Amino acid sequence: MASGDAAAASLAGRRILLGITGSIAAYKAAMLCRLLKTAGAEVRVVMTPLAKQFITPLTMATLSKNPILVEFFDPENGAWNSHVALGEWADCYVIAPATANTLAKMATGVADNLLLTTYLSARCPVVVAPAMDLDMYAHAATQQNLRTLADRGVRIVEPAEGELASGLSGKGRMAEPDTIAAFLGGLLAEKKKTLNGKRLIVTAGATIEAIDPVRFISNHSSGKMGYAIAGELAARGAEVTLISGRTALATPPGVERVDVLSAEEMYEAATSAFDEADGAVMCAAVADYTPAEVSDTKLKKGDGELFIRLRRTHDIAAELGARKGSRLLVGFALETDDEQAHAESKLERKNFDFIVLNSLRDAGAGFQGDTNKVTLIDRSGREELPLMSKREVAARIADRIETFFTR
Ligand code: PMT
Repeated sequence: MASGDAAAASLAGRRILLGITGSIAAYKAAMLCRLLKTAGAEVRVVMTPLAKQFITPLTMATLSKNPILVEFFDPENGAWNSHVALGEWADCYVIAPATANTLAKMATGVADNLLLTTYLSARCPVVVAPAMDLDMYAHAATQQNLRTLADRGVRIVEPAEGELASGLSGKGRMAEPDTIAAFLGGLLAEKKKTLNGKRLIVTAGATIEAIDPVRFISNHSSGKMGYAIAGELAARGAEVTLISGRTALATPPGVERVDVLSAEEMYEAATSAFDEADGAVMCAAVADYTPAEVSDTKLKKGDGELFIRLRRTHDIAAELGARKGSRLLVGFALETDDEQAHAESKLERKNFDFIVLNSLRDAGAGFQGDTNKVTLIDRSGREELPLMSKREVAARIADRIETFFTR
């Protein structure tokens, strides 16, 4: 793979927050957004109020396929735009174009718009692409601000020399969108290396236990949580085999997917893949019971009750736990009562390194939705996380997995 292609590939599945400030170069932000989307990144856009004079929110919303954020709250309904959540969501925050004014505010910690408060809350790498007139760029104040930001870890994509909006010519033109996209790709590729060389299995979704050719027993799992984990691990460089129950979801970039239906098929796929793996994350909602006999023909209804005899399925996680040795095994516990005790008992019984507890008593947690509220439990304690997107939960789980492999 050419190095440019490699950088583009590392954008796939990444979450890029694009900040736009009030500069004539804002039109290039539209092209940058398009390049990032084409490379498979998820893009959200935050703009300063002045940036709206240079490029419309409609253009950016259409290109990013997400609503644009400008104000701290929506004056229509008071809905709050959380700069903390935005900063946590992003894998990378790129401010392009970044004006002299915004750079000065970033250097001094001024927080008078959403773009700046998000900068102060961001935990991810921050990249700026300055754009301004040549004298503003060369001014000692701007150069000092850039040095201050660089000392604090902000990455700078240097402006180019050429014709400027003022009619003058010199250094100050914002770098071209493909240069910025390649820079971001390279930056995120560095980050991905943390799980390079690791082979991981993820189980996801619901199993389906046939009663007859028409009916089955299953559950509400959509696969979203497991797919988010598989995508996150692959984005960090792991070789991921996703063993998936039936779902409508697209396979995350870079993930090898094995489709199964029943608990028995998931057991066969998981136990055979585990031989070659460094670990597994057991996120699937697997049926504990399956019909003892499956009718070859559609069961006809009679007058009375129908009894279906069920037999136990294999406990896939427990089987991998018995074989794991020093390999990684992460479990999930989906509970409705006495959550902590049940999760701790599964942690021990199935020999997990840690377990992710989600409870159907918490709003926004568990099946189907895009959010989850989980507690990570291991033998040294518990970490209760707030409600967050399944992608963010996946990132927190991946952080723990990284720690496991660097012990
Ligand atoms: O798919 P979504 O709609 O996004 O929903 C996500 C989820 C709620 C399914 C997910 O967050 C979750 O909680 N997954 C585990 C569900 C479950 O079956 O939990 P459990 O407590 O019954 O099982 C405990 C652990 O053993 C789990 O890791 C499970 O995958 C595993 N198990 C269970 C039974 C079995 N026969 N084999 C297993 O491997």
